[in-house]
Amino acid sequence: AEESVPVNLDDFERIADKRLTKAVHGYYSSGANDEVSLRENRVAFERIRLRPRFLIDVDNIQLQTSILGYNVSMPLIVSPTAMQKMAHPDGETGVAIACKEMGIPMTLSTLATTSVTDVSANCGGEGLRFFQLYTFRDRGITYDLVKRAEAAGFKALVLTVDTPTLGRRNADIRNQFSLPTGLSLANFEAPKAKSTLGSEGTNLSDAREAVRIAAKQGMADHSDSRSALSAYTTKFFDASLTWDSIKWLKSITNLPIVVKGVMTAEDAILAKEQGVAAVWVSNHGARQLDGVDATIDVLEEVVDALRGTSIEVYLDGGIRRGTDILKALALGARAVAFGRPALWGLTYNGKEGVSQVLQMMKDELSLAMKLSGATNVSSVPRDLIRMPYDAPY
Ligand code: FNR
Repeated sequence: AEESVPVNLDDFERIADKRLTKAVHGYYSSGANDEVSLRENRVAFERIRLRPRFLIDVDNIQLQTSILGYNVSMPLIVSPTAMQKMAHPDGETGVAIACKEMGIPMTLSTLATTSVTDVSANCGGEGLRFFQLYTFRDRGITYDLVKRAEAAGFKALVLTVDTPTLGRRNADIRNQFSLPTGLSLANFEAPKAKSTLGSEGTNLSDAREAVRIAAKQGMADHSDSRSALSAYTTKFFDASLTWDSIKWLKSITNLPIVVKGVMTAEDAILAKEQGVAAVWVSNHGARQLDGVDATIDVLEEVVDALRGTSIEVYLDGGIRRGTDILKALALGARAVAFGRPALWGLTYNGKEGVSQVLQMMKDELSLAMKLSGATNVSSVPRDLIRMPYDAPY
């Protein structure tokens, strides 16, 4: 009776909270520091009001659109979240198959517990998948990741720019969070066949070996002052990355590049200058710098900065309702994404649970559109909403 059928994403969250271990729950749910931005990501959506229009024919509304030129059944992407097998053995494969069946893109994290190759194989090579890239101090490692994602049929690189190093998350420090025994960061396992990729350079193999060992040992090195994940990122992530580094990325791949983590018009313009295909407005689920605005509150400035270009804008952070999706579309997002809800679905019932979460969002989006007179996800008018800063009349 306690676990009745979930009727909204909050229900999925409550159930997942009870089932996960303290350490995993802490890792999945936490924001950085005082979680001001975490709360704000939700509250900001609640402050936005809808201005419904009536007596519009909403018998056949259009939820389909395209993302990076690929047809999708609705404007929703699953955000990359690390280590999904901690939620359920289906892990990243479960999320990928649920997305494939729903006809929406899945973004696989660099720090996944299932490799790019295995996720693709488990989907029978079908479905639309993007690869989220963290860049390593050793560019050979980054190069390898990109090449393997390409070979596995991933269709875009989502370069996360908000994580030169890891944000401070209290729960992870308290719990000395590290990857549970039996799981590993699968993208760093030794390749089955001898790889020749980027084998030039004398120190490369040492660095790769270090990354592999850390990945296998659950990131191993944790102390009282930080989690194992924090130690891992400090040691291996490239904190010297600049906008110019995108040139290097473009020199090694033809995949479209999506920059994830943009929060200002200024950075949107720098991204544009690097010729990216899309800008993904995100504050990393409020897990990096606490005190930043809610993503929905900066969406409009980013959209304005990119107006007149073909650069697509996505948004994640606090999307929990169909009406949230509609609000973001009204502000000019081409699509939205979410991270934690997929983890809750996965915890609830593996791949099936993720499918339920996605279907719930689709139903809620459809309902929100019908009740507000929005007929097409590609042309939701700005005046369907009222932002707190808009004049009331
Ligand atoms: C993340 N996020 C993230 N982002 C990324 O680029 N690479 C990653 O490996 C991860 N890992 C990760 C783990 C967990 C547990 C969470 C909650 C988030 C951020 C993620 O892609 C996304 O930006 C947020 O999850 C969006 O906020 P919501 O939908 O969770 O509110």
